[in-house]
Amino acid sequence: MHVQVGIIGVGPAGLLLARMLSLQGISCVILEAQTRAYVEGRIRAGLQEQGSVDLLTEVGLAERLHKEALVHDAVEIAFDGVRHRIDLHALTGKHVYIYGQHEIVVDMIAMNLAAGVPMIFEAEATALSGLEGDRATINYRHAGEDKTLTCDYIAGCNGFHGLARDALPAGIRRDFDRVYPYAWLGILAQATPVTNELIYCHHPSGFALFSMRSPEISRCYLQVPPDEKPENWSDDRIWTELQNRLGTKSELTIPVGPIIQKGVTGMRSFVCEPMQYGRLFLAGDAAHIVPPTGAKGMNLAFADIYVLANALTAFYKNNTTELLARYSEMALKRVWRAEYFSWWMTSMLHIDPTANAFDQKRQIAELHAVFGSEAGQKLFAQNYVGLPFGM
Ligand code: FAD
Ligand code: DHB
Repeated sequence: MHVQVGIIGVGPAGLLLARMLSLQGISCVILEAQTRAYVEGRIRAGLQEQGSVDLLTEVGLAERLHKEALVHDAVEIAFDGVRHRIDLHALTGKHVYIYGQHEIVVDMIAMNLAAGVPMIFEAEATALSGLEGDRATINYRHAGEDKTLTCDYIAGCNGFHGLARDALPAGIRRDFDRVYPYAWLGILAQATPVTNELIYCHHPSGFALFSMRSPEISRCYLQVPPDEKPENWSDDRIWTELQNRLGTKSELTIPVGPIIQKGVTGMRSFVCEPMQYGRLFLAGDAAHIVPPTGAKGMNLAFADIYVLANALTAFYKNNTTELLARYSEMALKRVWRAEYFSWWMTSMLHIDPTANAFDQKRQIAELHAVFGSEAGQKLFAQNYVGLPFGM
């Protein structure tokens, strides 16, 4: 089989690319190692930037999102026992939206299948070749058989643990990496959210985040040691610790309810450069990841795809390779801004176990400097709601 673009990965990046290409009449196939049920049930991101929602709307993928998403004007940042409301809309004119990543994935799979985009589940890409030649090949394994797909271009949208990045020659590829000395324990609970807005909390016992998925479902996170086992956290212990960190002096009573999902996520910043080699383009987590504090991962995947889809469209419609040649440089500009913001927000709000008393006082002073001034709030808000796509 030959297509113009072979896409690896049914995640937000691969699905958005397939949609944008198919709208332009560019042929593509998506290969996915997992089953459809698995990818549709994978609970991950919850916060969409205004730019992501605008793009999804433009390409016809946001009909259900506009009916069901919670639209937020502000977030709260709590430290030193006081909650500070940061009015994102007043500071930037933009909103953020709460709508689960898996819901977007469900919507995007349905829309792509309805548009006739071939999607092969349980098809694991095993090798890439021909990246420097006239056409590229993806070897994959499906239904117990080894198969090949040839294409003009390959989009490596296969997430952080996929194979595409490893196809870059060692002499060309450069990795930039930081691992944080803490992780997040995330829960999904049948409990009415305590407020209408997210609360990010700095507390001497560690960071906490109160988020939600709907008026009935809360999504909460607690800073834990990097090697923590979810089994060490009983439901009781989780609710007590959320109350301890989020409730301090702020008169909040965290609602308790059945916990329906629990997991630990490591915290890491990572960028692979360049994001292109020959006929291979990397997008989303395949090229970079951020610690989740700034809610940037999925939004960054969409921003990459915006640049890549426009570059592929320029090639197939106008026969120009200029934007394809500049893809890595253009995408990386925004990637590094999001890397910086995610690192900054993470460092400001978490308790670093290696910090000394000076570091702890300096951290509180920084929180006052940023959130106690309009200039600081504005810098935070502009980055949090998301920088323009294609900047
Ligand atoms: P993925 O979603 O990882 O998709 C890659 C796909 O490729 C997967 O389906 C995988 O099975 C498939 N694949 C891998 N290898 C192969 C192969 N060899 N062959 C075929 N298929 C393959 N981001 C935000 O923007 N906002 C948030 O609020 C947020 N919160 C988060 C909270 C948590 C707990 C976590 C874990 C992440 C969060 N993120 C958030 C990050 C976000 O989920 C990721 O950045 C996003 O999923 C990246 O999308 P992607 O399409 O690049 O990769
Ligand atoms: C959610 C996750 C985040 O990492 C974040 O910064 C905000 C919200 C969430 O899952 O709702």
